[in-house]
Amino acid sequence: MAVDINWSELGFGYVKTPFRYVSRFDGEKWDGGALTEDDKITISECAGVLQYSQSVFEGLKAYTTEDGRIVTFRPDLNAERMVGSAERLEMPPFPAERFLKAVDEVVAANRDYVPPYGSGATLYIRPFMFGSSEVIGVKPAKEYEFRIFTTPVGPYFKGGIKPLVLRVSDFDRAAPRGTGHIKAGLNYAMSMHAIVDAHNNGFDENMFLDPATRTYVEETGGANFLFVTRDKRIVTPKSDSILPSVTRRSLCYVAEKYLGLKVEHRKVALEEVPSFAECGLCGTAAVISPVGKIYDHGREILFPSGMEKMGEVTRLLYDTLTGIQMGRIPAPEGWIREICRR
Ligand code: PLP
Ligand code: COI
Repeated sequence: MAVDINWSELGFGYVKTPFRYVSRFDGEKWDGGALTEDDKITISECAGVLQYSQSVFEGLKAYTTEDGRIVTFRPDLNAERMVGSAERLEMPPFPAERFLKAVDEVVAANRDYVPPYGSGATLYIRPFMFGSSEVIGVKPAKEYEFRIFTTPVGPYFKGGIKPLVLRVSDFDRAAPRGTGHIKAGLNYAMSMHAIVDAHNNGFDENMFLDPATRTYVEETGGANFLFVTRDKRIVTPKSDSILPSVTRRSLCYVAEKYLGLKVEHRKVALEEVPSFAECGLCGTAAVISPVGKIYDHGREILFPSGMEKMGEVTRLLYDTLTGIQMGRIPAPEGWIREICRR
């Protein structure tokens, strides 16, 4: 069935699709799970998620390939990361194998909403899980709900691939030894004030620094950094309090194995940033979005790649990664999971 959506006009917003997946944990085990058309959730006012933010989530996309297959990209890494996120918040992990099957089911059921090849849009998939039973003393809930919904999306940043302007934030995102390395809703709540304040001051995003010393680069509210040196090495910040991005890990592999570039995953001092030639934000939503400028308290760091277009290496990385995702370039073994035909 053709759906009435102008794919190329889509931004990164919520468009309700017909089906979602639900499974419930009753204190001992997950039930068999099923698709439903009901997008509403009814829970107690005292549910763990409402009182103490016991929630974790994932984000991945389904793509239509050049030859009309609907595929996901490395969903096993999302499944695995969600297990780790749940364990960190004392939630019962949803089994990785079941996660993969549930993603397949919900995407296949919503296949009419997977944007066509070449439209510039994709189907964003949002698995999430929360404490659904009552807690009033600070402790984990007994019961949980795991759900997956989908929504067709366009580019995360308005303006598509126009270089972004960032600022070094005075707010911190995640504490050392805290929860920055997992995908928990609470990390995003922490970043809300910083992003609203950044937008109010004319910036697209925040560059968060390590909260302990405020000298090393961490990440933004929703993406990892990737830098390119003047001699075309790829440098990505290493820290225990940033999310291990599937996109960043994939781009580093692509840089090394497909493009023959050297890759360094290490601590990156803010003071080193002006020496880089290019900067990008990488994530499922962001893909790799170029950064043109970063403001650091009156100092302006303008990358040589400028404010008009993506840097040369960023462009190569973008084209190769999206080429793999859309089936134009052969993928490494196990990266593409085929679901159905469009
Ligand atoms: N960092 C944060 C804080 C994120 O929310 C995301 C998005 O998922 C990323 C990085 C990028 O991760 P991935 O490439 O796995 O989507
Ligand atoms: C993603 O890239 O999947 C995310 O979850 C980032 C979010 C800020 C939309």
